[in-house]
Amino acid sequence: MDKYDQVIELAKRRGFLWNSFELYGGTAGFYDYGPLGSTLKRRIEQIWRELYVVHEGYMEIETPTVGIEDIFLASGHVGGFSDPLCECKECKGAFRADHLIDKLVPSAETMGNAELDAAIKEHGVSCPECEGELGEAYEFNLMFKTQIGPGNGRQGYMRPETAQGMFVDFLRLARFYREKLPFGATQIGKSYRNEISPRQGVIRLREFTQAEAEIFIDPNDKKHPNIERFANTMINLYSDAGQDTGIVEKLSLADALDKGIIAHEFLAYQIGLTNHFLQRVGIAGNKLRFRQHRKDEMAHYAIDCWDAEVDTDRFGWIEIVGIADRTDYDLNAHSTVSKTELSIYREYAEPKMATQFIVKPNMGQLGPLFKGKAKAVADALKAMTQEELEKDEIKVMVNEEEYTVPGDIVTFAEETTKISGETIVPHVIEPSYGIDRIFYSVIEHAFLEEKLGKSEDDEEEDARIIMKLQNEVAPVQVAILPLLSREELIQHARSIENRLRTKGLLVSYDDSGTIGRRYRRNDEIGTPYSVTIDYDTVDENTVTIRERDSMKQVRAPISGLQEVLYDLMYNDKEFESAGEAL
Ligand code: GLY
Repeated sequence: MDKYDQVIELAKRRGFLWNSFELYGGTAGFYDYGPLGSTLKRRIEQIWRELYVVHEGYMEIETPTVGIEDIFLASGHVGGFSDPLCECKECKGAFRADHLIDKLVPSAETMGNAELDAAIKEHGVSCPECEGELGEAYEFNLMFKTQIGPGNGRQGYMRPETAQGMFVDFLRLARFYREKLPFGATQIGKSYRNEISPRQGVIRLREFTQAEAEIFIDPNDKKHPNIERFANTMINLYSDAGQDTGIVEKLSLADALDKGIIAHEFLAYQIGLTNHFLQRVGIAGNKLRFRQHRKDEMAHYAIDCWDAEVDTDRFGWIEIVGIADRTDYDLNAHSTVSKTELSIYREYAEPKMATQFIVKPNMGQLGPLFKGKAKAVADALKAMTQEELEKDEIKVMVNEEEYTVPGDIVTFAEETTKISGETIVPHVIEPSYGIDRIFYSVIEHAFLEEKLGKSEDDEEEDARIIMKLQNEVAPVQVAILPLLSREELIQHARSIENRLRTKGLLVSYDDSGTIGRRYRRNDEIGTPYSVTIDYDTVDENTVTIRERDSMKQVRAPISGLQEVLYDLMYNDKEFESAGEAL
């Protein structure tokens, strides 16, 4: 078993992750979160909310996971969100064409379908399942299609990213934020990608959770007001140029900005915030780097993009967060398809005087001449230059048709007017988090097989598996362990359990098996502290608190136990000060 297998085995056995639809044989690309997995995931999401929603002020919204076709026509997903698919002519198995040859040729991912077909033929690649002949590669759209309503209902798609919901709501959001840039919205929710043949377990899911922020900023001002917060943060940067030589540089964000490696402060701030979040939830700092997208891999909408990548035992470096400057791509695209201007109006502090060339077609005369087309002709005239208008007969193009307008019904002049504001199409900075991959990376980085020099509590064990989860994300914070199933111990144990639950701590009550086995079980699920109730509890009103990582134990009074454990959990209380050392 490699580490991935060990982690997944533990995750299944202890109620973190289960294969979905297991009862019916399961299907690749779907995982259930069990009781501990759900709690751990929610706690990771809650820290994300604290940082983005509470601290940054990017309010959370909730939009449907099903979208209508227009949204994804505008976003480019209907046209271009696809992978190359190759089907076996014999067994009808489906395979990612580039994955069939990625060990045989360099850059299979960037090849077109004709090149893929040629490479498959040249290397004599056949079906990995039955060795049958493979058909030609074609583009397979990764969106799940659905139909909205019965009969000839409207075409719908399960959203492939939460982002589009925020773009579609742009005008509402702009009004909510009183049209003051920058502003942002966030969503945590499910997205769907119908992957061709996902073989990376929990790393490549067909239904997955994203946490995304869309931050709308002034295109002419990409400075960040709080950049100082992260200016000295040292980050492992794998820049575009660094990837030519394979060098990851550790640089402060201030240096990376000075050297022009990161395009601007707003992106640098997001890299700093992502780095902070990931380490806070338990990603190992030495297994984390930020990789800049190369020019040829940048998404169609982005001008600079950095992925937070983590090192994993089986899959190597995998992307867990993408941070992109999406420019005004999305707002312009939705403007075009919806025929609605998606911009904000910004009033100047002081009105400006500006000289403008004003064209005034005489509508009273244009109307009878051009009837239903009169407005379109007038709009076209207003966009023309003085030189074009100084004619006896003005030629105007409307929808590729030429119209002739008598020169004497159009007047024009330079006029000085007062301008009190301007229209702006904001640019978008997007940090996009893959929560499931973060979840997996957190448990892999926390997973440790520890050799023990001595046995603990008379148990004959010299090794243990421990999940060194951060207190803030651990799904069980305190295990309540009555030493024996005797009534007087159970009464104390249940009363302590209730008090801790009332304090808001996540507690498990565990009275099955030997105490050593229960400690091991809690080490495996990452419980930071265990409380053992024994006969001294009955006689002296004290309990034993055991710390997961050090396995040290202290004796502490029952009274005030909930405060002591709360402070251990949230206020960095020293374990030694929690009671008398044993
Ligand atoms: N919104 C970016 C992504 O889903 O990849």
